[in-house]
Amino acid sequence: MKPFDYDVIIIGSGAAGLTTALQLPDHFRIALFSKDSLSAGSTYWAQGGVAAVLDQVGDNVEQHIKDTLIAGAGLCKEASVRHIVEHGQSSIEWLINQGVPFTPDQDQNRPYDYHLTREGGHSSRRIIHADDATGKAISETLIQQVQNKLNIDLYPYHLAIDLITTSKLGIDDHRCVGAYMLDLKNEAIKVFRSRCTVIASGGASKAYLYTSNTDGASGDGIAMAWRAGCRVANMEFNQFHPTCLYHPNAKSFLISEAVRGEGGLLKRPDGSLFMKNYDPRAELAPRDIVARAIDHEMKRLGADCLYLDISHKPAEFIRSHFPTIYERCLGFDIDITKDPIPIVPAAHYTCGGIVVDEHGQTDTEGLFAIGECSFTGLHGANRLASNSLLECFVSASSCAQNISDHFQHYPQPPTLPDWDESQVIDSDENVVIAHNWDELRRFMWDYVGIVRTDKRLQRAMHRVRLLQFEIHEFYSNFKVSNDLIELRNLALVSELIIRCAIERKESRGLHYTLDYPELSETIRDTVLVPENFHASQKTKQAHPVTA
Ligand code: FAD
Ligand code: SIN
Repeated sequence: MKPFDYDVIIIGSGAAGLTTALQLPDHFRIALFSKDSLSAGSTYWAQGGVAAVLDQVGDNVEQHIKDTLIAGAGLCKEASVRHIVEHGQSSIEWLINQGVPFTPDQDQNRPYDYHLTREGGHSSRRIIHADDATGKAISETLIQQVQNKLNIDLYPYHLAIDLITTSKLGIDDHRCVGAYMLDLKNEAIKVFRSRCTVIASGGASKAYLYTSNTDGASGDGIAMAWRAGCRVANMEFNQFHPTCLYHPNAKSFLISEAVRGEGGLLKRPDGSLFMKNYDPRAELAPRDIVARAIDHEMKRLGADCLYLDISHKPAEFIRSHFPTIYERCLGFDIDITKDPIPIVPAAHYTCGGIVVDEHGQTDTEGLFAIGECSFTGLHGANRLASNSLLECFVSASSCAQNISDHFQHYPQPPTLPDWDESQVIDSDENVVIAHNWDELRRFMWDYVGIVRTDKRLQRAMHRVRLLQFEIHEFYSNFKVSNDLIELRNLALVSELIIRCAIERKESRGLHYTLDYPELSETIRDTVLVPENFHASQKTKQAHPVTA
């Protein structure tokens, strides 16, 4: 089959992928992929908003940096934090120019035109939002913009199976030259050839049984980059959001942190408050602290859930600030203007990821990673609320600029071979895939969740290795499918999470273990190095090999 030729291919059409596509020059031929519809992924579901310093009177960049560093529990890279936070205002201005309908401020005395809400760990109101459906507004606006661009070809329902590197082809240097894509509608595997490849494929929270993420959050990009020889770091820091709706029919529905920002209170089943017992910032403490407090209270009381109550606020205020949450809860017979909301913590965000420099450059030449799949050093051991969308926009912009500035240095790719299906047959045992999905996510939740121990981690490692053996056999003998590819990636990423968690002999931020409950004096990232690691000179300078 003739390969599809592009200057740049972008795997993922969330905030990170869409922004990169739109910020690359118009004369570049670009392919933008999503394994589902273009609006699939976490971006569409983001509620709270984007953290950025806009209201210069009550806030400043130094304070946003400080809040990020505090939440990150000593592990943030200050240079990355500064780079991303300092570009907050310009990113928001770009979004406004694209047409994102952020919620205006009703209070005419405020110096900025947009309403700013507050979330845990932020010392000021600095979250710009579109009611409680910020991601939908961003996603719809940016998708409309890419649809208008003649130089961008859109490929929804195309699943990246693996990256193609020159070293895999037996060529001496090590660069990424494209990817194999499974066209899910036509069940065909296509070869895409490119001078630059950008992974913008989101996180891996689907590794856990309970998650706020959609089904596609299977860490595909992290797994593909690892297989292509890139380092991966700090995967032990999986963020659990404190408040997901607890209801048998409410799969993955988040109750935004902005509900606590606007006065919502966490309560035990008997109505008593408890957060002050855990942290003086109470409901507005950083997420790791709030999620652990809820987990502790639930286990102590043997409760299935706790409650988030905002019903003391005027009904009109609640309905106008949280229309999506109000409607969704009402659908389950919970009127949040009168009733407390049953909540539980759930896996929400992957703080670690593919090691990159400030421009998204990975260890492999021609390969970039941005957004939730990447590790920039912004989040440290715990992400500050609403910093992730900000990271997507700033990193995408730096990445696009970098590709554009250095494009002449990326050589034309060689001839690429077709995907070889001559040795595989159609599967007759898909139950194996479904069973392994369930098993993996359950033991990750039980053994690698909010509270860990060495023994639980060793158990998880043993099980993940067994699963990987079975999955490998399946992958070698049968034709690939969406579920098989995602399971293979999820098992690999789970192994990386467990390996990182085993290496960290302390409790810091989101990684809490009963065997080492204290902070260690040594502050270090957990960097995993694959066997086929080839560091590019650029990334070696930004992220020296430490493991
Ligand atoms: P995503 O938006 O997840 O997009 C991933 C893309 O990659 C999708 O298009 C997907 O189809 C594609 N993809 C994945 N694998 C493949 C593959 N193998 N082949 C082809 N395509 C692939 N952050 C904030 O800052 N503020 C918030 O208010 C906020 N609220 C949130 C609420 C919820 C419910 C959730 C789940 C997250 C929230 N977050 C929030 C986090 C934030 O939304 C995400 O971190 C961010 O949107 C990630 O963007 P992304 O572009 O990196 O990936
Ligand atoms: C939320 O609205 O609580 C999500 C914010 C985030 O994940 O940053």
